[in-house]
Amino acid sequence: MRLVVFGAGYVGLVTGTGLSDLGHEVFVFDIDPARIERLRRGELPIYEPGLEGLIKRNQRGGRLTFGSSIPAEYETADAYFIAVGTPQGEDGAADVSAVFSAAKEIAKKAKAPALVVVKSTVPVGTCDKVQEVVDSADVALEVVSNPEFLKEGDAVSDFFKPDRIVLGARSEAARQTLRDLYAPLQLSGERVVVTDPRSSELIKYASNTMLAMRVSFMNELSRLCHATGADIHAVRLGVGSDSRIGKKYLYAGPGYGGSCFPKDVQALAALGKSAGVPMRLAEATHSANDEQARFVAELVERALDGVSGKTIAIWGLAFKPETDDVREAPSLKLGKALVEKGATVVGHDPEAAANFVHAMGGKATVKDKDYDALDGAHALVLLTEWRSYRAPNFAEMRRRMRPGAGDVPPLVVDARNIWRPLDVLKAGLRFQGIGIQPSASHRPADRPSQR
Ligand SMILES: NC(=O)c1ccc[n+]([C@@H]2O[C@H](COP(=O)([O-])OP(=O)(O)OC[C@H]3O[C@@H](n4cnc5c(N)ncnc54)[C@H](O)[C@@H]3O)[C@@H](O)[C@H]2O)c1
Repeated sequence: MRLVVFGAGYVGLVTGTGLSDLGHEVFVFDIDPARIERLRRGELPIYEPGLEGLIKRNQRGGRLTFGSSIPAEYETADAYFIAVGTPQGEDGAADVSAVFSAAKEIAKKAKAPALVVVKSTVPVGTCDKVQEVVDSADVALEVVSNPEFLKEGDAVSDFFKPDRIVLGARSEAARQTLRDLYAPLQLSGERVVVTDPRSSELIKYASNTMLAMRVSFMNELSRLCHATGADIHAVRLGVGSDSRIGKKYLYAGPGYGGSCFPKDVQALAALGKSAGVPMRLAEATHSANDEQARFVAELVERALDGVSGKTIAIWGLAFKPETDDVREAPSLKLGKALVEKGATVVGHDPEAAANFVHAMGGKATVKDKDYDALDGAHALVLLTEWRSYRAPNFAEMRRRMRPGAGDVPPLVVDARNIWRPLDVLKAGLRFQGIGIQPSASHRPADRPSQR
């Protein structure tokens, strides 16, 4: 098939590249000319494991091209995928203006009947409105909803081995075309959920909010553990052993971040409000997440007896491991809260350092090497569990860090509970985890990444 993908971001690049790798001819269109230039030169504008090699291979094979205007041969494409951003608007609802810009461009350019596949996360009813826009085209265009479920950091593998593919289409012909397109991705079993566009749009918001809700609930419980002396590891194991509940997404931490959970939870709440059906759990999930970010900042502040004039190191700036994405990352919330109170923030991250400094408006610095961020620091906060942070040299940490007034040992806050508290304490450091007692000797042996 000949396919056009609108948007060369995390979703558009992975989708376009993945489809070209299956043998289709794919043109990825983006309104950002600098981004397109980089892609044409073979440079990746984002970090996503495994993507670079795949892009280069398909560029070389002539199946994958990039541009800021649609070439004539793609005006008769079989399908146009919309994978543009839908950031949070002023009232919490999703801003779908980029989706409609893309739809207008498709209506103008398409010279043959085609599908318009909406991959962006959009409020219920958006596909119907996009249909009205593309009905102005000279040819028949049918809009289908096909939300994306990839996880940043694992996106290439998610494309080729999806848990499920959700298709929301009205006509049988559109359903069949998409079934055919995705057939190579489900050789090991039926993974397609076929429904109408509105249900498909809601499935995406419901999935993200359900996951965010589990995380927020565990985060609330972790605060209760601090207050009552209970232990969040034990609570998680006990609760997760119930097969009706399961073990995934039950890790307490500094609060969820990223380009999806925060905005999608709020968009569902906004959608509920506008439909007259308040989404109380979505609203509470969002508040609990904000509360967790405040809790971590207060934990640091209390342990250091105030942060003004102190230096605080942060390890892990991306919102999760294996990505360079810092959108809504806990590092930004904590970094801003600390800087506002007069602290100096020095960060380290294997991939997201530049994005962090940019998002902090230059009010924080970063180091290329992890231990260099600790020089003279009164505290270290681990926010993202990159693999390279899992087995650190705590003695080296202690050597680099600075004791507080009265020679009180430097503070280590493990906001992902990946370190054994006793290892930290033995090195002459103070320890603080999330929902665990500082003297606890255990640690989860194989804590997988949550997202
Ligand atoms: N990032 C994820 O993990 C993820 C996962 C599932 C779903 N989603 C959803 O997918 C959508 C895209 O997310 P993303 O993270 O890839 O966004 P992104 O911000 O990384 O990329 C969006 C791209 O779209 C481009 N763009 C904007 N308007 C355009 C237009 N009119 N025509 C062509 N290109 C245009 C931008 O320049 C940018 O390069 C969002 O709705 C998001 O909620 C994202």
